[in-house]
Amino acid sequence: MNILTLPGDGIGPEITKQAVKIIKALSPNFNIDEAPIGGAGYDADGDPLPQTTLQKAKDADAILMGSVGDWKYDQLPRELRPERGLLRIRSELNLFANLRPAMLFDQLVDASSLKPNIVSGLDILIVRELTGDIYFGQPRGIHNLKNGEREGINTMRYSESEIRRIGNIAFQLAQLRNKKLCSVDKANVLETTELWREVMVDLSANYPDVSLSHMYVDNAAMQLVRAPKQFDVMVTGNIFGDILSDEASMLTGSIGMLPSASLDINNKGLYEPSHGSAPDIAGQDIANPIATILSAAMMYKYTFKQPNEAIRIEEAVEKTLQQGYRTADIMDDNSTKIGCEEMGDRILGNL
Ligand code: IPM
Ligand code: MG
Repeated sequence: MNILTLPGDGIGPEITKQAVKIIKALSPNFNIDEAPIGGAGYDADGDPLPQTTLQKAKDADAILMGSVGDWKYDQLPRELRPERGLLRIRSELNLFANLRPAMLFDQLVDASSLKPNIVSGLDILIVRELTGDIYFGQPRGIHNLKNGEREGINTMRYSESEIRRIGNIAFQLAQLRNKKLCSVDKANVLETTELWREVMVDLSANYPDVSLSHMYVDNAAMQLVRAPKQFDVMVTGNIFGDILSDEASMLTGSIGMLPSASLDINNKGLYEPSHGSAPDIAGQDIANPIATILSAAMMYKYTFKQPNEAIRIEEAVEKTLQQGYRTADIMDDNSTKIGCEEMGDRILGNL
Protein backbone atom coordinates (compact mmCIF):
# COMPACT_ATOMS: atom_id res chain seq x y z
CA MET A 1 0.00 0.00 0.00
CA ASN A 2 1.08 3.57 -0.70
CA ILE A 3 0.23 6.22 1.85
CA LEU A 4 0.74 9.91 1.24
CA THR A 5 1.11 12.10 4.29
CA LEU A 6 0.23 15.79 4.12
CA PRO A 7 1.49 17.25 7.41
CA GLY A 8 0.34 20.80 6.57
CA ASP A 9 0.57 23.71 8.98
CA GLY A 10 0.62 24.55 12.66
CA ILE A 11 0.62 21.40 14.80
CA GLY A 12 0.05 19.28 11.64
CA PRO A 13 3.66 18.06 11.26
CA GLU A 14 4.13 16.98 14.91
CA ILE A 15 0.82 15.10 15.16
CA THR A 16 1.24 13.45 11.76
CA LYS A 17 4.66 12.19 12.83
CA GLN A 18 3.11 10.31 15.76
CA ALA A 19 0.57 8.57 13.55
CA VAL A 20 3.29 7.62 11.07
CA LYS A 21 5.20 5.86 13.85
CA ILE A 22 2.15 3.70 14.51
CA ILE A 23 1.60 2.88 10.83
CA LYS A 24 5.27 1.93 10.36
CA ALA A 25 5.09 -0.40 13.34
CA LEU A 26 1.91 -2.10 12.14
CA SER A 27 2.77 -2.22 8.45
CA PRO A 28 6.53 -2.12 7.85
CA ASN A 29 5.99 -2.82 4.16
CA PHE A 30 3.79 0.17 3.38
CA ASN A 31 5.38 2.99 1.37
CA ILE A 32 4.95 6.33 3.07
CA ASP A 33 5.58 9.49 1.09
CA GLU A 34 5.07 13.12 2.12
CA ALA A 35 3.99 16.31 0.33
CA PRO A 36 3.15 19.90 1.28
CA ILE A 37 -0.40 21.28 1.46
CA GLY A 38 -1.99 24.46 2.81
CA GLY A 39 0.39 27.17 3.93
CA ALA A 40 3.25 24.71 3.55
CA GLY A 41 2.21 24.20 -0.07
CA TYR A 42 2.11 27.94 -0.61
CA ASP A 43 5.57 28.35 0.90
CA ALA A 44 7.02 25.52 -1.20
CA ASP A 45 5.29 26.23 -4.48
CA GLY A 46 3.10 29.34 -4.29
CA ASP A 47 -0.02 27.14 -4.26
CA PRO A 48 -1.93 25.65 -1.28
CA LEU A 49 -2.38 22.48 -3.37
CA PRO A 50 0.74 22.15 -5.54
CA GLN A 51 0.35 20.07 -8.74
CA THR A 52 2.88 17.52 -7.50
CA THR A 53 0.96 17.11 -4.25
CA LEU A 54 -2.30 16.59 -6.10
CA GLN A 55 -0.70 14.03 -8.42
CA LYS A 56 0.81 12.11 -5.51
CA ALA A 57 -2.56 12.17 -3.77
CA LYS A 58 -4.25 10.75 -6.87
CA ASP A 59 -1.65 7.98 -7.06
CA ALA A 60 -1.75 7.02 -3.36
CA ASP A 61 -4.03 4.37 -1.87
CA ALA A 62 -4.78 6.55 1.12
CA ILE A 63 -3.87 9.97 2.44
CA LEU A 64 -3.14 11.01 6.00
CA MET A 65 -3.39 14.73 6.61
CA GLY A 66 -2.39 16.81 9.61
CA SER A 67 -4.10 20.19 9.42
CA VAL A 68 -3.97 23.39 7.40
CA GLY A 69 -4.12 27.08 8.24
CA ASP A 70 -2.13 29.77 9.95
CA TRP A 71 -2.88 33.43 10.61
CA LYS A 72 0.16 34.44 8.65
CA TYR A 73 -1.64 33.51 5.42
CA ASP A 74 -4.84 35.43 6.23
CA GLN A 75 -3.87 38.39 4.06
CA LEU A 76 -3.44 36.29 0.90
CA PRO A 77 -6.11 36.31 -1.81
CA ARG A 78 -8.77 33.70 -1.02
CA GLU A 79 -7.59 31.29 -3.76
CA LEU A 80 -4.14 31.06 -2.16
CA ARG A 81 -5.21 30.57 1.44
CA PRO A 82 -4.46 27.24 3.12
CA GLU A 83 -8.14 26.22 3.42
CA ARG A 84 -8.49 26.33 -0.37
CA GLY A 85 -5.90 23.56 -0.62
CA LEU A 86 -8.05 21.35 1.55
CA LEU A 87 -11.31 22.19 -0.24
CA ARG A 88 -9.68 21.57 -3.63
CA ILE A 89 -8.22 18.19 -2.72
CA ARG A 90 -11.63 17.09 -1.39
CA SER A 91 -13.23 18.17 -4.63
CA GLU A 92 -10.49 16.93 -7.03
CA LEU A 93 -10.52 13.46 -5.45
CA ASN A 94 -14.33 13.33 -5.13
CA LEU A 95 -14.14 12.74 -1.40
CA PHE A 96 -17.84 13.29 -0.94
CA ALA A 97 -18.44 11.24 2.20
CA ASN A 98 -17.08 12.69 5.40
CA LEU A 99 -17.37 10.43 8.44
CA ARG A 100 -16.96 12.17 11.78
CA PRO A 101 -17.43 9.95 14.79
CA ALA A 102 -17.98 11.55 18.19
CA MET A 103 -17.32 8.99 20.86
CA LEU A 104 -16.41 9.45 24.45
CA PHE A 105 -13.68 7.39 26.05
CA ASP A 106 -14.83 6.36 29.55
CA GLN A 107 -11.59 7.74 30.95
CA LEU A 108 -12.46 11.23 29.72
CA VAL A 109 -16.06 11.52 30.91
CA ASP A 110 -15.13 14.41 33.21
CA ALA A 111 -13.49 16.35 30.40
CA SER A 112 -16.89 17.01 28.82
CA SER A 113 -18.62 20.27 29.64
CA LEU A 114 -21.88 18.28 29.94
CA LYS A 115 -22.92 16.17 32.92
CA PRO A 116 -21.51 12.63 32.91
CA ASN A 117 -24.95 10.97 32.71
CA ILE A 118 -25.73 12.90 29.52
CA VAL A 119 -22.55 11.91 27.70
CA SER A 120 -21.18 8.69 29.19
CA GLY A 121 -21.04 5.97 26.58
CA LEU A 122 -21.69 8.46 23.80
CA ASP A 123 -21.01 7.02 20.34
CA ILE A 124 -22.45 8.86 17.37
CA LEU A 125 -21.39 9.14 13.78
CA ILE A 126 -21.97 12.24 11.70
CA VAL A 127 -21.97 11.62 7.96
CA ARG A 128 -21.39 14.94 6.23
CA GLU A 129 -21.62 15.48 2.47
CA LEU A 130 -18.33 17.13 1.57
CA THR A 131 -18.15 18.18 -2.08
CA GLY A 132 -21.42 20.00 -2.71
CA ASP A 133 -23.81 22.47 -1.10
CA ILE A 134 -23.10 26.13 -0.46
CA TYR A 135 -19.36 25.35 -0.25
CA PHE A 136 -19.14 24.79 -4.00
CA GLY A 137 -22.42 26.08 -5.47
CA GLN A 138 -22.41 28.68 -8.25
CA PRO A 139 -22.93 31.59 -8.53
CA ARG A 140 -20.73 32.86 -5.77
CA GLY A 141 -18.64 35.92 -5.12
CA ILE A 142 -18.74 39.53 -4.04
CA HIS A 143 -20.32 41.80 -6.65
CA ASN A 144 -20.89 45.50 -7.08
CA LEU A 145 -24.50 46.56 -7.06
CA LYS A 146 -25.88 49.43 -9.13
CA ASN A 147 -26.51 51.49 -6.03
CA GLY A 148 -22.79 51.49 -5.28
CA GLU A 149 -22.76 48.97 -2.45
CA ARG A 150 -21.47 45.41 -2.68
CA GLU A 151 -23.31 42.12 -2.31
CA GLY A 152 -21.97 38.71 -1.27
CA ILE A 153 -23.51 35.62 -2.90
CA ASN A 154 -23.27 31.91 -2.23
CA THR A 155 -25.57 29.26 -3.58
CA MET A 156 -26.95 26.27 -1.71
CA ARG A 157 -27.59 23.47 -4.16
CA TYR A 158 -27.76 19.68 -4.30
CA SER A 159 -28.67 17.42 -7.19
CA GLU A 160 -30.67 14.26 -6.52
CA SER A 161 -27.71 12.03 -7.41
CA GLU A 162 -25.45 13.85 -4.95
CA ILE A 163 -28.01 13.36 -2.19
CA ARG A 164 -28.55 9.74 -3.14
CA ARG A 165 -24.88 8.76 -3.00
CA ILE A 166 -24.29 10.25 0.45
CA GLY A 167 -27.63 8.84 1.62
CA ASN A 168 -26.65 5.33 0.54
CA ILE A 169 -23.38 5.57 2.47
CA ALA A 170 -25.20 6.76 5.57
CA PHE A 171 -27.84 4.01 5.43
CA GLN A 172 -25.11 1.39 4.97
CA LEU A 173 -23.13 2.71 7.93
CA ALA A 174 -26.28 2.71 10.04
CA GLN A 175 -26.81 -0.95 9.10
CA LEU A 176 -23.41 -1.73 10.63
CA ARG A 177 -24.30 0.13 13.83
CA ASN A 178 -27.58 0.55 15.73
CA LYS A 179 -29.69 0.93 12.58
CA LYS A 180 -30.92 4.42 13.40
CA LEU A 181 -30.40 7.21 10.88
CA CYS A 182 -31.36 10.82 11.49
CA SER A 183 -31.33 13.04 8.42
CA VAL A 184 -30.80 16.70 9.26
CA ASP A 185 -32.25 19.40 7.01
CA LYS A 186 -34.04 22.72 6.98
CA ALA A 187 -36.91 21.55 4.81
CA ASN A 188 -39.31 24.04 6.38
CA VAL A 189 -37.42 26.91 4.73
CA LEU A 190 -34.92 25.71 2.08
CA GLU A 191 -35.95 23.92 -1.13
CA THR A 192 -32.51 22.32 -1.47
CA THR A 193 -33.13 20.43 1.73
CA GLU A 194 -36.77 19.75 0.92
CA LEU A 195 -35.39 17.72 -1.98
CA TRP A 196 -32.81 16.22 0.40
CA ARG A 197 -35.61 14.94 2.63
CA GLU A 198 -37.59 13.53 -0.31
CA VAL A 199 -34.57 11.59 -1.57
CA MET A 200 -33.80 10.22 1.90
CA VAL A 201 -37.39 8.98 2.21
CA ASP A 202 -37.17 7.31 -1.23
CA LEU A 203 -33.90 5.61 -0.32
CA SER A 204 -35.25 4.27 2.95
CA ALA A 205 -37.35 1.77 1.00
CA ASN A 206 -34.08 -0.03 0.18
CA TYR A 207 -33.06 -0.21 3.82
CA PRO A 208 -36.08 -1.56 5.69
CA ASP A 209 -33.90 -2.56 8.65
CA VAL A 210 -32.83 1.05 9.29
CA SER A 211 -35.21 3.43 11.01
CA LEU A 212 -35.03 6.84 9.38
CA SER A 213 -36.01 10.03 11.16
CA HIS A 214 -35.75 13.69 10.14
CA MET A 215 -34.81 16.72 12.15
CA TYR A 216 -34.47 20.40 11.36
CA VAL A 217 -30.93 21.58 11.83
CA ASP A 218 -31.75 24.11 14.53
CA ASN A 219 -33.50 21.45 16.58
CA ALA A 220 -30.62 19.02 15.93
CA ALA A 221 -28.14 21.56 17.31
CA MET A 222 -30.28 21.80 20.42
CA GLN A 223 -30.87 18.05 20.80
CA LEU A 224 -27.13 17.39 20.52
CA VAL A 225 -26.53 19.17 23.81
CA ARG A 226 -29.83 18.19 25.43
CA ALA A 227 -29.78 14.43 24.84
CA PRO A 228 -26.99 13.43 22.45
CA LYS A 229 -27.34 9.71 23.09
CA GLN A 230 -30.65 9.65 21.18
CA PHE A 231 -28.54 9.68 17.98
CA ASP A 232 -26.76 6.83 16.25
CA VAL A 233 -25.90 8.00 12.70
CA MET A 234 -26.71 11.52 11.48
CA VAL A 235 -26.54 12.44 7.80
CA THR A 236 -26.51 15.99 6.55
CA GLY A 237 -25.17 18.42 3.95
CA ASN A 238 -21.83 20.16 3.85
CA ILE A 239 -22.54 23.35 5.80
CA PHE A 240 -24.84 21.86 8.44
CA GLY A 241 -22.36 18.99 8.88
CA ASP A 242 -19.49 21.41 9.34
CA ILE A 243 -21.29 23.11 12.20
CA LEU A 244 -22.90 20.10 13.86
CA SER A 245 -19.68 18.06 13.81
CA ASP A 246 -17.81 20.76 15.73
CA GLU A 247 -20.64 20.87 18.22
CA ALA A 248 -20.71 17.08 18.58
CA SER A 249 -16.97 16.94 19.03
CA MET A 250 -17.12 19.13 22.10
CA LEU A 251 -19.51 16.69 23.80
CA THR A 252 -16.50 14.44 24.13
CA GLY A 253 -14.45 16.96 26.05
CA SER A 254 -11.74 17.64 23.55
CA ILE A 255 -11.74 18.10 19.83
CA GLY A 256 -8.20 16.74 20.10
CA MET A 257 -9.60 13.20 20.32
CA LEU A 258 -11.69 12.97 17.18
CA PRO A 259 -10.65 11.46 13.85
CA SER A 260 -12.35 11.77 10.50
CA ALA A 261 -12.42 10.07 7.13
CA SER A 262 -13.31 11.57 3.76
CA LEU A 263 -14.07 8.84 1.24
CA ASP A 264 -14.72 8.55 -2.46
CA ILE A 265 -17.06 6.02 -4.00
CA ASN A 266 -14.32 3.32 -3.91
CA ASN A 267 -13.42 3.91 -0.26
CA LYS A 268 -10.19 5.63 -1.12
CA GLY A 269 -9.83 8.17 1.63
CA LEU A 270 -8.23 11.18 3.12
CA TYR A 271 -7.93 10.84 6.86
CA GLU A 272 -7.46 13.80 9.15
CA PRO A 273 -8.13 14.88 12.71
CA SER A 274 -11.37 16.83 13.11
CA HIS A 275 -9.53 19.69 14.76
CA GLY A 276 -7.62 22.58 13.19
CA SER A 277 -3.98 23.56 13.00
CA ALA A 278 -3.77 25.39 16.36
CA PRO A 279 -0.85 27.65 15.32
CA ASP A 280 -0.75 29.11 18.84
CA ILE A 281 0.67 25.88 20.26
CA ALA A 282 2.60 24.65 17.21
CA GLY A 283 6.15 23.41 17.71
CA GLN A 284 5.86 23.27 21.50
CA ASP A 285 5.34 19.51 21.75
CA ILE A 286 2.07 19.97 23.66
CA ALA A 287 -0.50 19.11 20.97
CA ASN A 288 -2.68 16.02 21.31
CA PRO A 289 -1.84 13.49 18.55
CA ILE A 290 -4.69 11.12 19.42
CA ALA A 291 -7.16 12.38 16.79
CA THR A 292 -4.54 11.81 14.09
CA ILE A 293 -3.61 8.40 15.44
CA LEU A 294 -7.30 7.43 15.50
CA SER A 295 -7.57 8.75 11.93
CA ALA A 296 -4.92 6.19 10.99
CA ALA A 297 -7.14 3.57 12.65
CA MET A 298 -10.03 4.67 10.41
CA MET A 299 -7.69 4.28 7.42
CA TYR A 300 -7.13 0.63 8.28
CA LYS A 301 -10.85 0.12 8.75
CA TYR A 302 -12.28 1.86 5.69
CA THR A 303 -9.57 1.87 3.00
CA PHE A 304 -7.40 -1.14 3.84
CA LYS A 305 -10.27 -3.27 5.19
CA GLN A 306 -8.12 -4.39 8.09
CA PRO A 307 -10.49 -3.91 11.03
CA ASN A 308 -8.24 -5.78 13.45
CA GLU A 309 -5.43 -3.29 12.96
CA ALA A 310 -7.91 -0.48 13.59
CA ILE A 311 -8.99 -2.11 16.83
CA ARG A 312 -5.38 -2.58 17.91
CA ILE A 313 -4.74 1.14 17.51
CA GLU A 314 -7.92 2.08 19.37
CA GLU A 315 -7.09 -0.28 22.21
CA ALA A 316 -3.56 1.10 22.48
CA VAL A 317 -5.01 4.60 22.80
CA GLU A 318 -7.47 3.48 25.42
CA LYS A 319 -4.80 1.69 27.42
CA THR A 320 -2.60 4.78 27.40
CA LEU A 321 -5.48 6.86 28.75
CA GLN A 322 -6.19 4.13 31.30
CA GLN A 323 -2.60 4.41 32.48
CA GLY A 324 -3.32 8.05 33.28
CA TYR A 325 -1.35 9.80 30.56
CA ARG A 326 -2.87 13.00 29.17
CA THR A 327 -1.86 15.85 26.91
CA ALA A 328 -2.66 19.34 28.23
CA ASP A 329 -6.05 19.62 26.50
CA ILE A 330 -7.49 16.60 28.33
CA MET A 331 -5.54 16.94 31.57
CA ASP A 332 -7.24 16.47 34.96
CA ASP A 333 -6.04 16.47 38.58
CA ASN A 334 -5.29 12.74 38.80
CA SER A 335 -3.35 12.31 35.59
CA THR A 336 0.20 12.62 34.32
CA LYS A 337 0.75 15.37 31.79
CA ILE A 338 2.88 14.42 28.80
CA GLY A 339 3.74 15.99 25.45
CA CYS A 340 2.85 15.10 21.88
CA GLU A 341 5.94 13.00 21.19
CA GLU A 342 5.67 11.06 24.43
CA MET A 343 1.96 10.39 23.82
CA GLY A 344 2.90 8.93 20.43
CA ASP A 345 5.61 6.79 21.98
CA ARG A 346 3.40 5.53 24.81
CA ILE A 347 0.62 4.55 22.39
CA LEU A 348 3.23 2.83 20.23
CA GLY A 349 4.50 1.00 23.31
CA ASN A 350 0.98 -0.20 24.11
CA LEU A 351 0.33 -1.36 20.57
C1 IPM B 1 -13.60 21.26 8.51
C2 IPM B 1 -13.05 22.65 8.40
C3 IPM B 1 -13.01 23.04 6.94
C4 IPM B 1 -14.44 23.04 6.43
C5 IPM B 1 -12.31 24.37 6.64
C6 IPM B 1 -10.91 24.40 7.20
C7 IPM B 1 -12.30 24.71 5.17
O1 IPM B 1 -13.79 23.53 9.18
O2 IPM B 1 -12.98 20.33 7.96
O3 IPM B 1 -14.64 21.09 9.16
O4 IPM B 1 -15.16 24.03 6.59
O5 IPM B 1 -14.86 22.02 5.88
MG1 MG C 1 -15.30 22.61 10.37
